[in-house]
Amino acid sequence: MPTLLPGNSLLRERYQIFLEIPSHLFLCCSMVSLHQPNELDSQFFQCAEDFFLNHSSQALTYDDVSLATLYSEILPRDTQLDTQLTEGIELHIPVVSADMDTVTESRMAIGMALNGGLGLIHYNMAEKDQLAEVSRVKSHVHGLIQDPVTISPDKLIGDLLQTIEKEKYTFSTFPVLDQDGKLLGVLPAHVLNVRFAKLRVIDVTIPRSQVCTILQSELGNDAITAADDYFTKNPMEHKLIVVDSNDRLCGLFTLSDILKINQERRAQFKAARDSRFRLLCGAAISIIRDAQGRMDRKRMMSHIAALLDRGADVIAVSTAHGHSRDVGAAVKAIRDAFPKLPIIAGNVTSGAGVEFLAESGANIIKVGQGPGSICTTRVVAGVGIPQLTALYVASKAAEKRKVTILADGGITKSGDIVKALTLSQGVICGGLLAGCHEAPGEIIEIGGKLYKQYRGMGSLAAMRAGSASRYGHLKADTTRKVAAEGIEALKEIAGSLDNVLSQLIGGIQSGMGYLGAQTLADLRGKARFVQVSPAGQREAAPHDVVELKTTAK
Ligand code: XMP
Repeated sequence: MPTLLPGNSLLRERYQIFLEIPSHLFLCCSMVSLHQPNELDSQFFQCAEDFFLNHSSQALTYDDVSLATLYSEILPRDTQLDTQLTEGIELHIPVVSADMDTVTESRMAIGMALNGGLGLIHYNMAEKDQLAEVSRVKSHVHGLIQDPVTISPDKLIGDLLQTIEKEKYTFSTFPVLDQDGKLLGVLPAHVLNVRFAKLRVIDVTIPRSQVCTILQSELGNDAITAADDYFTKNPMEHKLIVVDSNDRLCGLFTLSDILKINQERRAQFKAARDSRFRLLCGAAISIIRDAQGRMDRKRMMSHIAALLDRGADVIAVSTAHGHSRDVGAAVKAIRDAFPKLPIIAGNVTSGAGVEFLAESGANIIKVGQGPGSICTTRVVAGVGIPQLTALYVASKAAEKRKVTILADGGITKSGDIVKALTLSQGVICGGLLAGCHEAPGEIIEIGGKLYKQYRGMGSLAAMRAGSASRYGHLKADTTRKVAAEGIEALKEIAGSLDNVLSQLIGGIQSGMGYLGAQTLADLRGKARFVQVSPAGQREAAPHDVVELKTTAK
């Protein structure tokens, strides 16, 4: 890039007309003309409309294209990655973790939301387990815990221990309430021990007179700051109970939550939270069927109602073929039963598919059939569209129907995410996150290297565990030969989710900086595409060197 200086003689020669203009103005005028579109550039580097229509005879995916760099005044750190998927689902990074049984359970969903993204809890588990997973995310650090788990005075410590075990509670502060909801005291953590199993709660409770409380009316508009002040003034306390004027329990603050929230407020990317300051959490469902294979509407609706009761913010109807009668009927039934619920549905790869799901009531549509790292749909069934072409046609239909789309599958590096975000409002990642500590599953050591299992939801093993309906099969069929549309695989351990996401986010921000895009909307508006030859693809990756790796400290 040449440096543009006021006295630059080359520039003065080219723009003789400005010679009499003071040099600081000369700089402005000449720079304005230099970052105007260049005619030849626009023939080679085309906007999405021109590019994809000119390439309509060939389906393209991430590595087939590159984005042209554009004049920029935006540094990577100045970019904003906020994305609104639909009303109430605002993310601060455009990344969603896949609803797969080797990717997203509560640990992953918590990590995703803390980083500003969203996790979709998979459904390859008993319904009650999925409810507990959602509860775990929703009860994670949210400042004021509005519905603390409480206990009645007559319960035995032994019974409480069993409940803790069954519900997998990770906290140990239990307010004790009478039958009118009035505070009788708090159970001290040290009595949660089998040696006290036979004692009644009330006999070991710290009495009301010794419990620190704050009136709800004293919290004002900024409850977190009020709690923070309280803990500063009362260094011996680490719990604060909120009561109303009748001494009925309204909530609970813990010092550790407040510390984490203060840390989070200083972070570059805010956590994704709901209106009650709880982490956002999505839950996936497949079409629940009865023994005859018909949609079991009643059971499906009651499970969704229970998920919402636990605080799920969005429900994803995850199937391999979203543009189909049963999926449309399921989405419609959910929309009728829950008019305001944000619904994700998929997967599709055509404009007609997007319109169909939008018409059925979905707000956010998953785009991708067969691009996933563990997918064999294209091999087995011979169907599916390479991802960028699918995203282009889907994005046009989404614009028309005022819904958003998520690019689902096939993302192997941050550059793919930048390309996906030129056409979509977010991406869904499976393989990129499956090696993180937060993904479910054990670490396996093979030949000195560490791995985690990663399997397609259409693999035989996953379908036997419950996901058969996603691929239009009955679970019973999986004992016979059904064609698997996914494989079982291993992913090398990738470290913590925070590190993996910060690498991905850094890449997205760099991409936006190169395009002069401050926001994701700017990125969508500015992107200029060019097709890359096979030699260009080789040139794009490190080549002709032996790579050395510096490990992060
Ligand atoms: P990545 O590339 O991130 O893809 O690993 C994750 C996405 O792949 C989809 N998926 C499957 N597709 N057979 C398929 O054809 C499968 O067994 C399968 N399992 C998951 C899904 O959309 C996921 O988000």
